[in-house]
Amino acid sequence: MAWLRAATGVVLFTFLVTHFLNHALGLHSLAAQEAGRAWFLLLWRNPLGTLLLYGSLVIHWILALRSLYRRRHFRLPRWEALQLLFGLAMPPLLVPHLVGTRLAWTLFGTSDTYARVVSVFWMFDPAAGVRQIALVAIAWTHGCMGLHFWLRLRPWYPRAARTFLVAAVLLPVLAVLGFTEAGKETARRAREPGWLDVMVRGPDTRSPADRELQERVRERLLAAVGGSLALVLLAGAARRLRARRGGVVRIAYPEGRRAVVPVGFTVLEASRRAGIPHASVCGGRGRCSTCRVRVGEGAELLPPASAAEIRVLTRVGAAPGVRLACQLRPTGDLSVVPLLPAGVDPAAALGSAAPGAGREQEIVVLFADLRGFTRIAERRLPYDVVFLLNQYFAAVGGAIKRSGGVANQFAGDGVMALFGVDSGPEDGARRALAAAREIVLSVRALSATLAEELRAPLRIGIGVHVGPAVVGRMGFEETEYLTAVGDTVHVASRLEQLTKDYAGELVVSEEVARRAGLDVSALPRHEVTVRNRREPLAIRVVADAGALALPARRGGEPER
Ligand code: FES
Repeated sequence: MAWLRAATGVVLFTFLVTHFLNHALGLHSLAAQEAGRAWFLLLWRNPLGTLLLYGSLVIHWILALRSLYRRRHFRLPRWEALQLLFGLAMPPLLVPHLVGTRLAWTLFGTSDTYARVVSVFWMFDPAAGVRQIALVAIAWTHGCMGLHFWLRLRPWYPRAARTFLVAAVLLPVLAVLGFTEAGKETARRAREPGWLDVMVRGPDTRSPADRELQERVRERLLAAVGGSLALVLLAGAARRLRARRGGVVRIAYPEGRRAVVPVGFTVLEASRRAGIPHASVCGGRGRCSTCRVRVGEGAELLPPASAAEIRVLTRVGAAPGVRLACQLRPTGDLSVVPLLPAGVDPAAALGSAAPGAGREQEIVVLFADLRGFTRIAERRLPYDVVFLLNQYFAAVGGAIKRSGGVANQFAGDGVMALFGVDSGPEDGARRALAAAREIVLSVRALSATLAEELRAPLRIGIGVHVGPAVVGRMGFEETEYLTAVGDTVHVASRLEQLTKDYAGELVVSEEVARRAGLDVSALPRHEVTVRNRREPLAIRVVADAGALALPARRGGEPER
């Protein structure tokens, strides 16, 4: 339905633009306004234009009532509340104008020329003129807000926004100025003998009975608008009452926050109702993806994602277990982690952020650590320690680079590297295993080179895991670099530490081996517990990573 709302909104907004441009011609003269009106009528008073305009008006109103009915609470962000309020305020202001112009013309042939309509507003019914200006302001603001929140997800929008803003301010101002100038001109011309009779009273072909009928139509239309609104509000309240009897779900957020809401609420609605800040650039319309959450406990009870939700999640490359909070209506208790900060910029929506600006994706993380380095460093001059570490980092960093990884952290004697950032987790897993073998061989070669300096060969432990992580450029100024944060990183680090317990050079999660297509039948299997995971993690231990038989690459080409 979002597309229908947008399409009808665009039609109505186009009508407003052409109407305002026509009004603005009053800055030149009443005659210019009348000439512009001929084009305006050509556009909107043919059968197709009429169908498009009034069809859009009715559909837009019905869609507004529908979303009002479906709303489970009214705790809205300020901009959304304002847009909703303006949308609801429009019909009562619009009906009298519509009945007095288009309907009077259709039913009684009353001409709604600028001279006549402006004279009425300017000289005979100034209150109606003020109402008209209020309608202009409300309709325009509502339309601009709708367009802004619809278009701001487009990558080109930030460049065009300034121009749009200028136009958004200028156009209604010019329209009101044009209307004012036309008003002054009608007041002047009204002093000319016979002008009012010819220009204002003459075109009004209505009989008293016609006027009565017109008044009845106006009242009925206003009653229909008010009645439909009241009915929908009542039906919505009854729906919310019924939903409360259907039980509640408890949603746990990080830092111990909780929301308890009736079944049927979306996770985003639950966050809003509980006052938990939650990103929602598109206002919960399932378009921007900024509300996405990683579901922890309770994931097995969730209703499946709709095709539209899957489409958006696929577009941002979301990892398994990630859902759109504005589309997800849990039926049982669950825990969620919002993945984007509440005040996220629209540029983060739909993956339109600049490369490295931060996104959640599946990656492969490798940790490597030199065994017993403290002992090696003992009784060595600082210069020797730095020299040794730099040789070691060059060997490890070179192996990672040659395998297509990104070595992004050198801390103490440990190294962290990312694989598959651009190429995906399967490719990343193969490259990470290739890197592990290269690292071991390079460190052995380094040991051989430094044999005279070392009491024992250098030994290394490597852990590799695959999973979702937030990947982006982090740090400050020149220390900013591409890195990853999340449980996957912690698990990879823990696997590296497990190499000590299992006396191996490499510990990989079975998931990495599976993604890489590695034959693990000969590798010892263990199950370990890791944080934030209820199920134990299956791992494989490689005693001699230098002899690791890597699978062939796709297409049969043997791995280097
Ligand atoms: S708020 Fe935009 S997709 Fe959920």
